[in-house]
Amino acid sequence: MASRYREVYENWQRDPEGFWGSAGEDIDWVKPADKVFDPEAGVYGRWFAGAICNTCYNCVDRHVERGRADQAALIYDSPITGSQKTYSYSELLDEVQTLGAVMQAHGVEKGDRVIIYMPAIPQAAIAMLACARIGAIHSVVFGGFAAAELATRIDGCKAKLVLTASCGIEPGRIVEYKPLLDEAIELSKFKPEGVLLYQREQARASMIEGRDHDWDAEMARARGEGRKAPCVDVAATDPLYILYTSGTTGEPKGVVRDNGGHMVALYWSMKNIYGVDPGEVYWAASDVGWVVGHSYIVYAPLLHGNTSILFEGKPIGTPDAGVFWRVIWEHKVAAMFTAPTAFRAIKKEDPEGKFIRDYDLSNFRTLFLAGERADPDTIQWAEKHLEVPVYDHWWQTETGWAIAGNPVGLGALPVKYGSPTVPMPGYDIKILDDQCNEMATGETGAISVKLPLPPSCLPTLWNNDVRFKESYLNDYPGYYMTSDAGFVDEDGYVYVMARTDDIINVAGHRLSTGGMEEVIATHPDVAECAVIGMADQLKGQVPAGFIVLNSGVERAEGDIEGEVVKLVREKIGPVAAFKLAMTVPRLPKTRSGKILRGTMRKIADGEDYKMPATIDDPVILDEITAVLKGRGYPG
Ligand code: COA
Ligand code: AMP
Repeated sequence: MASRYREVYENWQRDPEGFWGSAGEDIDWVKPADKVFDPEAGVYGRWFAGAICNTCYNCVDRHVERGRADQAALIYDSPITGSQKTYSYSELLDEVQTLGAVMQAHGVEKGDRVIIYMPAIPQAAIAMLACARIGAIHSVVFGGFAAAELATRIDGCKAKLVLTASCGIEPGRIVEYKPLLDEAIELSKFKPEGVLLYQREQARASMIEGRDHDWDAEMARARGEGRKAPCVDVAATDPLYILYTSGTTGEPKGVVRDNGGHMVALYWSMKNIYGVDPGEVYWAASDVGWVVGHSYIVYAPLLHGNTSILFEGKPIGTPDAGVFWRVIWEHKVAAMFTAPTAFRAIKKEDPEGKFIRDYDLSNFRTLFLAGERADPDTIQWAEKHLEVPVYDHWWQTETGWAIAGNPVGLGALPVKYGSPTVPMPGYDIKILDDQCNEMATGETGAISVKLPLPPSCLPTLWNNDVRFKESYLNDYPGYYMTSDAGFVDEDGYVYVMARTDDIINVAGHRLSTGGMEEVIATHPDVAECAVIGMADQLKGQVPAGFIVLNSGVERAEGDIEGEVVKLVREKIGPVAAFKLAMTVPRLPKTRSGKILRGTMRKIADGEDYKMPATIDDPVILDEITAVLKGRGYPG
């Protein structure tokens, strides 16, 4: 089929408000918008200003009312615990109504913040929807973060209530959440009023009298008393959630998502980008702690009346590299979305794709990859073995949906390996130079989006318009700076090549090297340090730390390096995947004292590099090279 992409994109260009206004007709509003876009409101304008709505109603209630009551809404498939559970739309409604009532009984009101610190279990999705139902603003914290990171987020949003589970399960170990949460509440300046805890049988948590409440007991009591929370009216421009993401420092950014624009963009994406119809099974193999989990495990599939899979497992080892194909086959998945790193892990374990042949994947139509650049090898391997189209698409926590992608529902465009294809409607992408001038086709520069951003994108950072402007808007007036560098080719295909800041991407997880440096600098024997993202075949990048010890330190370097690795795991969490600290005599710097991290990265990856003209002492680069070679890296 010939793609309608260009026609649709031009329709949006001609009349953005008409475009999003008509997309908004797929959403049930309590009161429609006064203005589809109000340029005077907010930092750069607001979508669906004046509208009243409820996201949970659109995700759950309306499907129950209109014939999907018995359709599976959520299938929890947990190979790591060997269990499965399916929730129909009506069962999901019962859960969210009840949990909403439980939270209300604990004093949670519209606009209050609720932290959700949970593994990939149905209760996490139910918690998100229940917050949406009662107008509370959730902030989900990924289970791989340590207590200090959780404390920062509790303080950042001043959470009234924390919803948690007793544990998460990683291959070979149980991650007990409760001690981490207790420590986080100890560390935080702001103290939540209560904790609602879901006990899992793999590790039961001890409770603090008066503060902690048992999930099952509270749900049973609410059910016994017939308490159910109705949907609370919220403004389309009210926050639905805050999701903290890595910034350039250790202080994470609280990305705000609104209700109205988010629903409209996500609903639009399901058919037009992912090509699925209501009723079909959609699977995003991610975690609810990441934006992909928010948008494509929970909100978008449910808004659209799909069946969504919540997977608690890994692409390999739970039990083997065939688990993705087993899930696709067993639940008749039509479209899947995951990170390229998951496929690299499978490819390494099963290069011939032998496990694939054990399953009938005839219902499976399309694989989508995002979270990091999809390398051509991985795409081609998946295409060859799965015999379905494989599409890379590019997005950020800040946008909540694809900036560039291949719109399957509009008719897919030819794939160009290495490109996530073309800008989605709503995104006017420009490549800019340092002076904010548009660059020529094919030239690499800062990928920017002309304001206003489309629906679903962040209207601001939580309680911090100033940081929002400083981080994204001030450098290129009139544009949103993505902090990704790349180019657009003669066919309008976007190429996303690298971050322009010190964010790195480890196994599809976004991490701040600046944040790691802040932690390492607290070690008493460390004088200074630099963390870079080094190329890694499996995870895309892994962090590598270079440390300079205080003069006079006589302890063994290996001991200190081990302590530094432990410190990052304790303070940031295992997800940082920080396993390599190397002592070096000095760090390479410019004459003005700026550490030459870019050059260090090139040396570590064995790439050619030009001697920076401003380098203070070129010999230091030889010292770095020698240390890396000593550890077996290209150097
Ligand atoms: N809770 C606690 N710890 C967690 C965790 C969680 N939810 N998630 C990961 N971790 C831990 C891991 O156990 C690991 O610990 P270890 O150092 O003791 O081994 C550490 O954090 C690093 O995790 P990760 O970088 O994910 O490495 P891994 O070896 O466990 O798994 C992959 C590698 C590629 C299999 C895995 O990252 C993956 O499936 N990724 C693709 C899907 C995805 O998550 N995408 C993200 C957004 S789309
Ligand atoms: P996150 O906010 O965690 O989704 O991370 C967003 C960042 O991941 C982007 O700014 C990119 O640097 C990178 N990224 C995500 N998807 C892609 C992709 N398809 N191609 C290239 N980079 C990507």
